[in-house]
Parts: sequence; C-alpha cells; structure tokens
Amino acid sequence: MKIRLAKDEDYSGIARLHRSTIRHINSKDYPEDVIRVWSARAKAERYRKSADKLKRWVAVEKGSVVGFCDHDSGCEITGLYVHKDCIGMGIGSGLLKEAEESLRKQGCKLIVIKSTITAQNFYENHGYKTGKGGFHDMDGKKIKFFIMRKTLG
Ligand SMILES: CC(C)(COP(=O)(O)OP(=O)(O)OC[C@H]1O[C@@H](n2cnc3c(N)ncnc32)[C@H](O)[C@@H]1OP(=O)(O)O)[C@@H](O)C(=O)NCCC(=O)NCCS
Repeated sequence: MKIRLAKDEDYSGIARLHRSTIRHINSKDYPEDVIRVWSARAKAERYRKSADKLKRWVAVEKGSVVGFCDHDSGCEITGLYVHKDCIGMGIGSGLLKEAEESLRKQGCKLIVIKSTITAQNFYENHGYKTGKGGFHDMDGKKIKFFIMRKTLG
C-alpha cells in the first residue's frame, strides 16, 4: 500500500469508495434516509472543486484507491475514509499520520475533526478527546458528529 497526494484522475475512485463506505460501514450507525442523502453527495466533481482548498492523500493498492484523507488550511481534518473491504488493515492509521504530520508542518498545535459516530473510537485510540456533538445539515437531513481534538506534542 502506498500513500501519496491525490491527483485529478483519482477523483472518480475516491467518490466510488466514499459512497460505498458510507453505505456499507457508516450505515451501521445512521438511519437509512440519512445514508441515502449523504452517499448521494459523494461525487467526483465535489472533490475536484475542493482540490485547491484541501490537501488530500490517497492510499493506493494495486492501482486502486483504498482510502483517502484531507485537511484544510486551518487545523481541521475534513475527511478520512477507507474502502469497506480494507477496514482494520492499518490504512486509516497511515493516512491519519500523514495528515497530522502535514498539519504539524503547517504550524498547528491543535487538530480538530468532526467525527462520525462510526470513527469516534478510532480517533480516541489515536489520542483525540471527544467534545461536543453537533449535526451537519445535508439537504435537510441531520448527520450527527462529535467534535474531537488532539493537542500535538
Ligand atoms: C475510521 C476508519 C477511517 C479507520 O480506518 P481503518 O483503516 O479501518 O483503521 P486501522 O486499520 O488503521 O485501525 C487502527 C486501529 O483502530 C481500530 N479501529 C478501526 N476502526 C475502528 C472503529 N471504528 N472503532 C474502534 N476502533 C477501530 C483497529 O482495530 C485498529 O486497532 P489496533 O491498531 O489495536 O489493531 C475506517 O474504519 C472508516 O473508513 N470508517 C468509516 C468512515 C468514517 O466514518 N470515517 C470518519 C469520517 S470523520
């Protein structure tokens, strides 16, 4: 598995993976109507449009995107998703490490993530503390998240 910065030609693979992970993995923690709206938003064009605002990595295995992670120009990690068939193989941890290192170089002392219910324990295992909960409003559907924070040493 190789981790590198995302390129334009990765976006359709990223979108496919994102949709599938929401439908198969996040679906254990969110109602069906929420999953439908959330996954429908995962389109290649969306990632392409944010490419100049976010720094984004992909994990690639045998030519296929098996995970991605991005952060903004502040100190927020804005997304981390692993392919549904590759969960628990260390890909998420590798991507998170890459993003944290990049934020450290950017001068961040505190990293913020609006975590899904699904990933809350994963982030806690990586040293994040759970703060307040909130909701993303996606086309009228409320998607629960937890604000997680980690101080960089
Ligand atoms: C959360 C996610 C990114 C983690 O990636 P991953 O590649 O599965 O994680 P890793 O294999 O690197 O896991 C590292 C450790 O965390 C554990 N872990 C993985 N997912 C976990 C979870 N959801 N809850 C608790 N522990 C978890 C693993 O068992 C492993 O433990 P170990 O090191 O003691 O063996 C991935 O499961 C995922 O895509 N989840 C759904 C999408 C999502 O909700 N993303 C967050 C958006 S904010």
